Amino acid sequence: MKNIINILGACLLSLLASQTVYAAGETPFPADWKSWKSVTTTLTTIGALPGCEADVSSFPPIYQETVETYCPVRPEGPGAVAVLVKPDAMASYKVRDGKLVEGSNMILHLKDLQLLFVTGLKDGAPAYAVYKEDGTDATGADGILSANTCRVCHTGYGAFCVNGQCGTLK
Ligand code: HEC
Repeated sequence: MKNIINILGACLLSLLASQTVYAAGETPFPADWKSWKSVTTTLTTIGALPGCEADVSSFPPIYQETVETYCPVRPEGPGAVAVLVKPDAMASYKVRDGKLVEGSNMILHLKDLQLLFVTGLKDGAPAYAVYKEDGTDATGADGILSANTCRVCHTGYGAFCVNGQCGTLK
């Protein structure tokens, strides 16, 4: 079973890598992302998104679903993560009041995969995108890299996420 999962994971990753038709992200590439401050959260304290065999039963359900959604990308899972916050949005991020600024505000950096999961605010509503570190738009039209997948989870757990922000400072 583990082998089958590994093979599926490898296929999925090559599928992701070979995907050439991208849907446009809903929020812009934050070109200055390297100067954003990293914060310590529940997920960054764990340090990485693990593979599918990891026992995450003690985590809150939203974290279990996050692992379940992204663990198949490769056998060892997505790996190392960081959360980066735009300087202008830091005060709001800290108190988690949902009053972020228009444009891109927060990044879940999948360091091993060299992908940026970006959340922003567009016309007052949370907006989502996936970029490679060089700014190439990698947002999917559907599937796990689509803005809709982000939105379903980031709004689907009641008050767990406030206006698109799911993590809190630790
Ligand atoms: C199944 C649930 C789930 C899905 C799907 C998901 N996320 Fe998240 N996301 C989370 C959780 C939980 C956190 C908080 C992690 C932590 O403790 O820092 C998070 C954190 C983030 C953060 C850091 C800021 C914050 O909200 O705390 C960004 C940015 C982000 N996600 C963007 C995305 C994008 C873009 C997508 C889609 C490509 C996506 N997420 C898909 C659950 C999800």
